[in-house]
Amino acid sequence: MWKSPIMTFELAVPVVAAIGSTSLSRSDSAYTAPSCSATSDWTWMYNQQEKPPCLTASFLVGACITKGYTILKLPAGFRYDPPSSITANICLCSWAVYNLYGACSLCQDQGNPLMTWDVWTTNCSNFKSDDR
Ligand SMILES: *[C@@H]1O[C@H](CO)[C@@H](O)[C@H](O)[C@H]1NC(C)=O
Repeated sequence: MWKSPIMTFELAVPVVAAIGSTSLSRSDSAYTAPSCSATSDWTWMYNQQEKPPCLTASFLVGACITKGYTILKLPAGFRYDPPSSITANICLCSWAVYNLYGACSLCQDQGNPLMTWDVWTTNCSNFKSDDR
């Protein structure tokens, strides 16, 4: 069944809002991700709950698997793996997650390279929307 990434984002938002505002118990600790470097001002990338893009990305990816999600800090000069044929799903292949991973890479201030949408979605086949 085909769904657009826009739908994914809309569906994911209530999940994130619930996690962010109701309790810090059970599931919040299951989402971990690197902070942005303080060397530059990356706060414009933060969401309305002042969460950095890496953590926001983990919430959106976790929305597909319901178990939380960890994003590790990148070594300098490295990039995050795009979805593989095994991990590809509507969350990882969404335009929102692609952009949040890009923001997350940049804000670590280590010269981590970005990749294009076409490379990110190489393995996304029917999870990819041309509408974005
Ligand atoms: C696509 O998935 C295959 C198998 O899981 C993997 O070996 C390959 O690196 C992936 N391609 C990209 C661009 O990540």
